[in-house]
Amino acid sequence: MKTIGILTSGGDAPGMNAAIRAVVRSAIYYGCKVYGINRGYKGLIEEDIQEMNLSSVGDIIHRGGTVLKSSRCEEFKTEEGRAIGVEVLKKFGIDCLVVIGGDGSFNGALKLSQLGFPAIGIPGTIDNDLAYTDYTIGFDTTMNTIIDAIGKIRDTSSSHERVNIIEVMGRHCGDLALYAGLAGGAETIIVPEVEFKVEDVCTKLKTTQKRGKRHSIIVLAEGVGNAQDLGKEIVKETGADLRVTILGHVQRGGSPTAFDRILASRMGVRAVELLLDGKAAKVVGIKDNKIIDMDINEALSMTRDFDKDTYEMVKILSI
Ligand code: F6P
Repeated sequence: MKTIGILTSGGDAPGMNAAIRAVVRSAIYYGCKVYGINRGYKGLIEEDIQEMNLSSVGDIIHRGGTVLKSSRCEEFKTEEGRAIGVEVLKKFGIDCLVVIGGDGSFNGALKLSQLGFPAIGIPGTIDNDLAYTDYTIGFDTTMNTIIDAIGKIRDTSSSHERVNIIEVMGRHCGDLALYAGLAGGAETIIVPEVEFKVEDVCTKLKTTQKRGKRHSIIVLAEGVGNAQDLGKEIVKETGADLRVTILGHVQRGGSPTAFDRILASRMGVRAVELLLDGKAAKVVGIKDNKIIDMDINEALSMTRDFDKDTYEMVKILSI
């Protein structure tokens, strides 16, 4: 019988709980013992660990956040920190680990596997910034949260005939801005993957104003820069009545969508099956609606193709 440890690490994402539930339930189904490690790698180093059973994950599939808590742990990036982590895992009799998080968390899982401790990664991040998988857990929910916000801001934008800049999360990845912007009917979408000129944004505003459209939504990915600074430049150039909304951490919360719950459940079960097959240093993902797995090394070395076609299409739809 294997003993599996599970932790969530990095920025939390809606759907992480569904993944925890899937790992715990499938591991118990296959006859394993499961330990939940609280507060990510930090909790591992600090031995903040408890055994989990079927009811530990009851009533959580619909909840945002992570019942295991999360953190970003600088100490685990050091050899000394990881050595403590391995000792703690041994002390609790944990044979292998499931890590739910983004690229930083996967690096930790890779390092553990290199130390001879099998670890499997599940992509849990709202950013959708991992090249090897079509979707990460949390992205869909966050996209829907942003769409909801755009709709509300559009109402007031239209009433006051304003330009509204909405800054969204995503780190260096423009997916949240692109797809939420498209679905929210934004006039302009600005992402880190495509160079942009403030003068082009202003020209577009002036052109659309000329044809009688007096309000406009600009969705800005945080990886491009500061929304307030952009707003000031646009006001200087166009004299627009402009407001800036930085959506912030509201994007990280909320009940996960059906898509994220299903994705998390499928990935969680696959992660356990990989560990039971004796696999290590792998990540699970989804490609063309099939759950896949890949070496962490390979997955982390891939660079993401930005969806330029959709980006160009948005320009057609927002003339
Ligand atoms: O990686 C998830 C994410 O929400 C990013 O989109 C954002 O840049 C960052 O985390 C915010 O981190 P924190 O919660 O530490 O402020």
